[in-house]
Amino acid sequence: MDKTIAIDYQEYDSVNELSCEDYALMQRAIGATEGAYAPYSGFCVGAALRLKDGAVIVGSNQENVAYPSGLCAERTAIFAASAQYPQCRDYEALAIVGRNAEGCLCEASPCGACRQVLSEYEHVQNHPLRVICYLEGGRVRVFLSVKNLLPFSFDF
Ligand code: THU
Repeated sequence: MDKTIAIDYQEYDSVNELSCEDYALMQRAIGATEGAYAPYSGFCVGAALRLKDGAVIVGSNQENVAYPSGLCAERTAIFAASAQYPQCRDYEALAIVGRNAEGCLCEASPCGACRQVLSEYEHVQNHPLRVICYLEGGRVRVFLSVKNLLPFSFDF
């Protein structure tokens, strides 16, 4: 029997349409692109993760000459948050943005490995983690849960 999955998400024409908190989170993600170490791809990614208590932890992609040893911005942020604030492993929203070699902001959608990692933290906290992705031209896409980014995620 054929089955279909529908993915719910929201799109906004401008970051200005986000709530104040989410707008501020996206600004932190934009700022975090400055911390990227991306000499190989030239593509900088910034991520900003807001914890339930309001604290914001940022991450950026960290590349390495041994390519697979590098890490994406999203995992850099959430691993740092988990390691530094194990008592508050309660994540509300994650904003992500890319900056290309010309310095222009652009879309960054979480890779498969990051989706799997985000999915596990969402699973253990038992409530949704929203993912807010910057799009070309300052538009925004919002996923209300990581489940919408990774159906049939691995778990055991
Ligand atoms: N990258 C991220 O940090 N996050 C994403 O969502 C997609 C890709 C990084 C990995 C690599 O350093 C660079 O972007 C180009 O792929």
